[in-house]
Amino acid sequence: MAYSRISDANEITARYMDSILIKERLIDSVVADTSTELFGTKFASPVMTPAFSHLKQFGGRELTGLEEYSIAAKEMNILNFVGMMENDLFSKIIATGAKTVRIVKPYADNGKVRDQMKFAEDYGAFGIGMDIDHIFGNDGLDVVIGEQMAEQTSDMLLSYIESTKLPFFVKGVLSEEDALKCAELGAKAIIVSHHHGRLPYAVPPLMVLPSIRKALEGKDVKIIVDCGIASGADVYKCLALGADAAAVGRSMLPSLEEVGSDGVKNFIRSVNDELRFIMSCTGASCVSEIDDSCIVKT
Ligand SMILES: Cc1cc2nc3c(=O)[nH]c(=O)nc-3n(C[C@H](O)[C@H](O)[C@H](O)COP(=O)(O)O)c2cc1C
Repeated sequence: MAYSRISDANEITARYMDSILIKERLIDSVVADTSTELFGTKFASPVMTPAFSHLKQFGGRELTGLEEYSIAAKEMNILNFVGMMENDLFSKIIATGAKTVRIVKPYADNGKVRDQMKFAEDYGAFGIGMDIDHIFGNDGLDVVIGEQMAEQTSDMLLSYIESTKLPFFVKGVLSEEDALKCAELGAKAIIVSHHHGRLPYAVPPLMVLPSIRKALEGKDVKIIVDCGIASGADVYKCLALGADAAAVGRSMLPSLEEVGSDGVKNFIRSVNDELRFIMSCTGASCVSEIDDSCIVKT
């Protein structure tokens, strides 16, 4: 028999996701409500957009893909994320009216980090954060589209967190140790993620999620998951294993490219509808009632 090794974390993550099955619990169950609350704000769903960057204008349309999906997030009343970008584009994202978390890169130019975070706060961002999983690259420190990245110490993260009144999101947490450091530093949310497979053999976020949840028990830190999330079933599994919310990723790109904001709205609606269906079929009448009692790991 041929023996082949799989180092691609995306494939490992997809296999793990598909190895998790769901039991039914129908008697006495009702149609579920998918609304959720985060940092005092009510959202229609625990489904979120991903922190994307560098999306051009698709199909000759006027707005960039980033603005188009932000409009969808606003109209769907879900939390919106954006990634690497300059301040002028971020102000256009805010102009869509979407409640948006700005994830700033770990630039070597620390003045740029602070400037982008302050700009986001001044312009009405919902939250700010950093994708710490882009610090390192194969040559040492990462270079992203010509921009040098740098190591980020606990003291640096603490100073970002202390510099803002907004909730701070650390993106790219994939261990209990980093999760605990985030909590100690005062981060209000972590995004459990391997950034679509940057690390070979990265553990699937859902495999490490239950122990991260346990490590953060009693701490005031929200847990969001991304990587390979493409359906309501995937979101349900994230919530069942300990997440407060989950972000779709490249799964929304075909809808965005082909149809724009309406395409993203239809996609998010279908994800949310499937989530509601599974919640109803498993006896979870609201998001906070989802737990792992209907989850079977094969
Ligand atoms: C085109 C593109 C741009 C991205 N830009 C960023 C970014 O600037 N900052 C960031 O934190 N993550 C960025 N990501 C990663 C996503 O936020 C997310 O972690 C990842 O796509 C999740 O995996 P999935 O696509 O398999 O769902 C980007 C992903 C894509 C596909």
